[in-house]
Amino acid sequence: MRMYDIIAKKRNGGELTTEEINFFIEGYTKGEIPDYQVSSLMMAIYFQKMNKRETADLTMAMVNSGEIVDLSAIEGIKVDKHSTGGVGDTTTLILGPIVAAAGVPVAKMSGRGLGHTGGTLDKLESFPGFSIDMSVEQFISNVNERKIAIGGQTANLAPADKKLYALRDVTATVDNMSLIAGSIMSKKIAAGADAIVLDVKTGSGAFMKDEDSAFELAKEMVDIGNNVGRNTIGVITDMDQPLGFAVGNALEVKEAIETLKGEGPEDLTELCLTLGSYMLVLGGKAKDSKEARNILEDIIKSGKGLAKLKELVEAQGGDPSYVEDPKLFKVPSIVEPVLAEEDGYVKAIKADDIGISALVLGAGRETKESEIDLSVGVIIHKKIGDFVKKGEAIATIYANDRNKKNQSEEIILNAYEIVKDKVDKKPLIKGIVTKDGIQKF
Ligand code: URA
Ligand code: CA
Repeated sequence: MRMYDIIAKKRNGGELTTEEINFFIEGYTKGEIPDYQVSSLMMAIYFQKMNKRETADLTMAMVNSGEIVDLSAIEGIKVDKHSTGGVGDTTTLILGPIVAAAGVPVAKMSGRGLGHTGGTLDKLESFPGFSIDMSVEQFISNVNERKIAIGGQTANLAPADKKLYALRDVTATVDNMSLIAGSIMSKKIAAGADAIVLDVKTGSGAFMKDEDSAFELAKEMVDIGNNVGRNTIGVITDMDQPLGFAVGNALEVKEAIETLKGEGPEDLTELCLTLGSYMLVLGGKAKDSKEARNILEDIIKSGKGLAKLKELVEAQGGDPSYVEDPKLFKVPSIVEPVLAEEDGYVKAIKADDIGISALVLGAGRETKESEIDLSVGVIIHKKIGDFVKKGEAIATIYANDRNKKNQSEEIILNAYEIVKDKVDKKPLIKGIVTKDGIQKF
């Protein structure tokens, strides 16, 4: 088999066989096939596309390029969740505890990675003492005993995807439906989940700018999952503005605590209840999403969700008193509002730019070596549809450096589009995709 022939076949619109897909993924992972040939193939796939069978084969070839985590020692149906993009991932800090409190095992292996803010691990390290260092045995026994543990990613998951994603990133071949679907699903499948809930974002802050492509991407991933025996549901959600109010590590932890008390932002609460409901259904703890939602609402009301977070923090060496008294979290030296420059209604908020406004403060990593400042970030006060008066605070910046604060302020002001005419609020949940098809709300 020759890589040249595979490239030519796809360039001409042909369908690649399972053997051809395995050949190039294996060869590329081992370093036997050079970047230039694979980038050429990616461009051919970008234009000629892949069908469902090719996409499923690509996914499994990437799964098999590395280790596959074995979670079989954990009792129950392991349901994982994945969000495609978005600013901050506060949802995990809320979903983990409420779903675990409902009895669905949450065996989360999170990465640090690059981003506007740190990953879930960095956020949890806002609790002094919190550690993800534990043996596999400890991890499994924590999940069996408490239904939740959050560990670092030790296994070498889907290395082919890691290499391919980096290559696509610099060759303008990221935004192909099959390649994105295969990339995301290969990591989830390799991580050992029995069932998967996907939060597929659409809007200005997402990969999929329009709703139809988001539904299509969700369908692609749901089909892959179900084809390989992982019960998968996709929820299509709005990302035309940041979720919740907080962007930053300790700030998002505090927002998660408020949400677990039932006092969080409406959109973040709604998203967590929706995603959590499907996790309970897939995890066999409720017969439908309505029953699941009632269970989760009770968990929040009764304080069981908050208690579960406290239990998680304590089990992994963190100081649980911070859960009860979030005032203990370190506050940076500069806390200042960003004032609106005109009257009007908020029409749009560029979610990516709000993310960058937190990144420049030091909330995230620009390179792998960057040090994160867990205390800094941004809290926005106005969302789409809200009225603002000139001079009113649209956001508050938490910073430790005056120059960075000024830079962040300018980005925030530019991220907001304020208009004279009234703007309607938009629905957050746009629909779901299951193995039975697409359902638009
Ligand atoms: N996220 C991924 O992990 N892979 C893609 O291809 C796109 C988004
Ligand atoms: Ca957030």
